Amino acid sequence: MKRRHGNSRRPASGAGGRKQGGKQGGKPAGKGNPRGARPGPRAAGKPGRGDGVREARPEVHGVARWISKYGIMSRTEAARAVESGRVQIGGKIVLDPEKPCHPERQKISIDGRPLRRARVIYLAMNKPAGYITTAFDPMGRPTVHDLLPQGTGNVQAVGRLDADTTGLLLFTNDTEFAARLTDSESGVEKVYIARIAGRPDRPALRRFEEGIEIDGTRTKPARVKVLESGEGWTRVEVAITEGRNRQVRRMWEALGHPVHELERIRIGPISLGDLRTGRTRPVREMERATLQAPLEGGSR
Ligand code: URA
Repeated sequence: MKRRHGNSRRPASGAGGRKQGGKQGGKPAGKGNPRGARPGPRAAGKPGRGDGVREARPEVHGVARWISKYGIMSRTEAARAVESGRVQIGGKIVLDPEKPCHPERQKISIDGRPLRRARVIYLAMNKPAGYITTAFDPMGRPTVHDLLPQGTGNVQAVGRLDADTTGLLLFTNDTEFAARLTDSESGVEKVYIARIAGRPDRPALRRFEEGIEIDGTRTKPARVKVLESGEGWTRVEVAITEGRNRQVRRMWEALGHPVHELERIRIGPISLGDLRTGRTRPVREMERATLQAPLEGGSR
């Protein structure tokens, strides 16, 4: 039977996740922060009283956003929970998902239980072809969430892979981590192996690397390496730092070399390795730590 998850219908990033996560935020759990609590403004090294700078005000967001930021449920689900009277602030039921509040200043509860950060979850999946990157498909097609181990909790895909694309797909309930990964400014490389039609010549490879206009904007510098070619096809490795819709396919299409097969093999330091198709593994702390290290020129 197909499992329906209570997650958002959109991946954790791009059009959907950016709203939830925002770019600025603190870091997810790491060493010395085992319970997943993210540092507040002080712990994050921001100036406070006594530094000669006025103390930063705590962020104030709507209650539904806080619930989502804490990894309890998606923003949409949180809004529904509020509207159905399950959420209280300071002991009073609130029905407005946008009700401004701050969990460190007010007691927020859901179904009578205090709001606490959920355990942070980071998973890597080897996505098979034919699965849609969404939590629930109204047309009943198989989704990547059907492949998650039972009891995974409330995670969302980081970015999106087309139904036909295979390979590395990350899942998390850490919206800030997801936003950082998908932010093209962060320079995190996404590496793909593509089997394309024909054999691209040097000028085509250069154009791929220098940028191609898609939807009126040029793609950011990319890398391409020819791996092998045969009768009417070429296998290439490409690395991009953006995550525009069907970007790799559209770039090759624009050059007259449509993509026949596409597999993502790496996101920054996180590699697909020998993870079997349809399987999921936890993302190792080392992999996450490398991603979260400050960017020192170049891409990761
Ligand atoms: N680029 C594409 O064209 N498709 C994907 O699934 C991912 C990147």
